[in-house]
Amino acid sequence: HCRQFLSHNIVLIGFSGSGKTTVGRYLAEVTGFTCYDVDHMIEQQMGQSVQVVFNRYGEAYFRDREQEIIKQVSAAKHAVIACGGGVVLNSVNVSNLKKGGKLVWMKTDPETIYNRLKQEHDRPLLNGKGIEEIMSMLSKRYCLYEEAADYEVSTDGKSVVHVGYDILRQF
Ligand code: S3P
Repeated sequence: HCRQFLSHNIVLIGFSGSGKTTVGRYLAEVTGFTCYDVDHMIEQQMGQSVQVVFNRYGEAYFRDREQEIIKQVSAAKHAVIACGGGVVLNSVNVSNLKKGGKLVWMKTDPETIYNRLKQEHDRPLLNGKGIEEIMSMLSKRYCLYEEAADYEVSTDGKSVVHVGYDILRQF
């Protein structure tokens, strides 16, 4: 464990399907940090899935819950924080996360995202969307990820261990 050598929280940002949750768990294991998965925490708090929260209460409500949770976890120490893909839409989130952490953009091509997500049905903004729609959504967010990021790591064609290693090298 290298917990004692790392002074910043590791904050994972990027589009759906970039591997934030999976790599977050792996990084927590190798660093001894605690993994906070923001979407998962919202689901715990609400007792319902992100998909159901979107359907019942709408996106704005979800974004409010997201902002609250981000504020809480930003105060944690020795944390790996796996964010939802839309976290950068709100600059308050970005400044909260930057207080104790460095933001890593897990950069992923639209084809990879499409292939990773096509079997899944729990992304309210992406369900049933094709590669073209993914590209258009990604291009709208691209500069937000870019501006928010302290570091960038590409994930295409890489294993979890490889991505994890590329991230840890930056810290
Ligand atoms: C969202 C991404 C999702 C989840 C919600 C909204 C987005 O997280 O927070 O469906 O706006 O991109 P993942 O990045 O884990 O899919």
